[in-house]
Amino acid sequence: MADRLKGKVAIVTGAGSRGPGVGNGKAAAVLFAREGAQVLCVDQVIERALETCALIRSENGDASPLQADVTRAADCERMVATAVQRYGRLDVLHNNVGVESRKPMMEVTEDEWDRVMAVDLKSMLLTSQAAVPRLVEAGGGSIINVSSVAALRAHGRTAYAAAKAGVIGLTISLAGQLAKDRIRVNAIAPGFVYTPMVAEGMSAELRERRRLAALIQDEGKGWDVGWAAVYLASDESRWVTGQVLVVDGGLSITTR
Ligand SMILES: NC(=O)c1ccc[n+]([C@@H]2O[C@H](COP(=O)([O-])OP(=O)(O)OC[C@H]3O[C@@H](n4cnc5c(N)ncnc54)[C@H](O)[C@@H]3O)[C@@H](O)[C@H]2O)c1
Repeated sequence: MADRLKGKVAIVTGAGSRGPGVGNGKAAAVLFAREGAQVLCVDQVIERALETCALIRSENGDASPLQADVTRAADCERMVATAVQRYGRLDVLHNNVGVESRKPMMEVTEDEWDRVMAVDLKSMLLTSQAAVPRLVEAGGGSIINVSSVAALRAHGRTAYAAAKAGVIGLTISLAGQLAKDRIRVNAIAPGFVYTPMVAEGMSAELRERRRLAALIQDEGKGWDVGWAAVYLASDESRWVTGQVLVVDGGLSITTR
């Protein structure tokens, strides 16, 4: 442990994983705690948040769980109030929650579009609206929004790509509005990461194709995304705002 986040209080949304293994949110929560942060692990499925907290506590880290649905403004307010009640301040909001949608354009229904926009994009506005007054009180802070390379490439996952591109627009807009308060807002765009979110029903063949798609042909892991979040949460990135940190093993710059 290098104490890169010592003294900081962080909220991680979607801090659980939907299946066995370590997703992006769980990895970020664990690494934040390893680096000395106190972490509020938020998930709409409390068992998932509890599992991440148990892992953190087994390493003598400081974390507690909260059930909340970040598509609801009242839950976001409660989430931020809980972090401040439990830990006395708020420094970092890590907006990790997101759901996939793989439908090509002509198959996307209105309901699916609305659901994906609510979970992947609206949630990040609502959590930020709730968190900003507390970040201002702390003298500044860091908001990290998880986007995806799906926002930057011609993937057929229509609603997901649009929502994740919206995350980048939201990030830049908020960075512009909040710099005066010393609040940095950045996005992370992960590539093909093997997490419980994508593992469900994935064939071994597709898993291998995803690995080979990047320039660095090691499988991407939740930890890779988590380490990027540690950097953006820490004071090491104090002069970095409105940026998209692509964590994809070079996938998005390949010419093949
Ligand atoms: N795995 C990849 O290849 C990949 C690539 C690019 C981006 N991402 C992004 O990474 C993020 C998630 O990664 P993960 O591995 O942690 O996923 P995950 O599905 O394992 O975990 C996400 C958690 O979020 C929770 N959640 C879902 N909706 C919620 C809501 N409304 N309120 C509160 N909690 C909610 C789920 O219960 C789940 O435990 C997403 O934003 C995803 O789009 C993943």
